[in-house]
Amino acid sequence: MNSFYGDYLFILQSALNNVLSDIELIRAWKKSCGYRDPVEHCKGRIKSEESMIDKLKRKNMKPTLDNARSKIFDAVGVRIVCNFVDDVYEIRDIIKSPSSLQIIQEKDYIAVPKPNGYRSYHLIVKTRVNIPGRTLDVPAEIQIRTIAQDSWAALEHQLKYKQEIDNMELLQKELKRCSDEMASTDLTMQTVRQMINGEIK
Ligand code: GTP
Ligand code: MG
Repeated sequence: MNSFYGDYLFILQSALNNVLSDIELIRAWKKSCGYRDPVEHCKGRIKSEESMIDKLKRKNMKPTLDNARSKIFDAVGVRIVCNFVDDVYEIRDIIKSPSSLQIIQEKDYIAVPKPNGYRSYHLIVKTRVNIPGRTLDVPAEIQIRTIAQDSWAALEHQLKYKQEIDNMELLQKELKRCSDEMASTDLTMQTVRQMINGEIK
């Protein structure tokens, strides 16, 4: 079963637990201060051995554990889904403020969406895993996005993996339109919330 990752799977699982518990801590702290929880839900996964091998090959690298450990940063992946766009940036700021997570890379596909309409905030972080006699800094990818951006990405992902489809261009165009409309609605929803809460007049 776990022939590719071997013992490293334990390290990956520990890294995933670290990141998930860091996010849980942020949520608990927010709520204990009497604030709204900025996170709607959060989930994590370890990239399957099959996907990792595929990814290494796709990037023209030998499918070795050494390459997986040193060249691929999303063996550990966490997705944080928020109700509003400002929650995405709030979580981003909290993660970036001094914490146990070290920031390696940031990509703001909300400010600058991909041409297909993909919107999300990506962070590559490192988390420290302590096992008896050894300390490792393990990379993890954190994707932060709104519910609308998340459901859009799930649908677009389905299209990406469809090989034979007649009306590909039309569907891509429709998806791009959905993404833009959803972005506009996300901002209107945020404004309505701010007005309801007296944050803006
Ligand atoms: P990889 O895509 O991981 O090889 O690295 P990259 O450097 O291109 O990173 P990028 O930030 O573009 O994408 C990282 C992850 O974000 C992907 O593995 C997907 O999970 C997600 N993602 C990026 N672009 C898209 C997209 O166009 N559609 C969807 N559905 N997901 C995307
Ligand atoms: Mg990519």
